[in-house]
Amino acid sequence: MPEDNHPLPVVPQLLDNHAESFLAMARRLEDLGYERLNWNLGCPAPMVTHKGRGAAMLAKPDDICALLDAVLPRLVCRLSLKTRLGMRDRQEILALLPCLNGYPLEELIIHPRLGVQMFNGQPDLGGFAEVLAASHHPVVYNGDIVHLDDFQRLAARFPRVSGWMIGRGAVARPALAEEIVAGKPMTESPARLAAYHDELFAAYAEKLSGPGHLLGKMKQFWLYFIASFPGREKLVKTIVRAHRLDRYQEAVRAVFDQGGG
Ligand SMILES: Cc1cc2nc3c(=O)[nH]c(=O)nc-3n(C[C@H](O)[C@H](O)[C@H](O)COP(=O)(O)O)c2cc1C
Repeated sequence: MPEDNHPLPVVPQLLDNHAESFLAMARRLEDLGYERLNWNLGCPAPMVTHKGRGAAMLAKPDDICALLDAVLPRLVCRLSLKTRLGMRDRQEILALLPCLNGYPLEELIIHPRLGVQMFNGQPDLGGFAEVLAASHHPVVYNGDIVHLDDFQRLAARFPRVSGWMIGRGAVARPALAEEIVAGKPMTESPARLAAYHDELFAAYAEKLSGPGHLLGKMKQFWLYFIASFPGREKLVKTIVRAHRLDRYQEAVRAVFDQGGG
């Protein structure tokens, strides 16, 4: 709901492959006051792709264009796309671009992997360069930016990129955005990381039912937080092995007491 997101500007995302249900949800979001929507054409999760949604749609460019034909004239919100290079082959996005170029889209957000790769391997920067050159829309880069030098290397290579989207790196290292704005690396403050962790913990304790769910949710974050504790991975693993909340909290305090990096 919009009031839960204040003051962050939020762009709701739809994961659909039928024009009528897409439009029905878009109407509800427009009624809530949203002015921008994003269509997910990149999700590689089998439970999504088996239903022909997300990255699976990239193999069917005609279906993508048919949905845009049906939806765009009736949409009040501006629409952007979040996508990968293809489901199985980067030729898929290159085949789709001439058609996408004809629509009034706000931007394309490109995660330069294939759906079948999930998150394995490296982002295909050559493939991204081809999309950037062929797209008539603003192109946002997304993928594997965790440290300042990742960003600087990409920004130097792709000056025409219109924006940068950061997922896992922002969860792992909350100082990353500040580093990028300041243009210099910063040491992640252990006290600030601990406060960030405690805020997440308190919010999920309120939202989730039971210690098992809370433990499971918080452990997932440590898959990303581990990047803030270089050289201390063994200690962080004691957190992931904890089977009770009290053990979890003891292990977390031990990690924070030794500091971040
Ligand atoms: C657990 C998880 C859930 C994700 N859920 C979504 C999603 O709902 N919509 C989406 O567009 N991307 C989703 N992504 C993909 C990210 O938006 C992003 O494209 C991907 O993680 C690569 O960027 P990063 O290396 O900066 O994280 C998800 C990624 C992960 C790891």
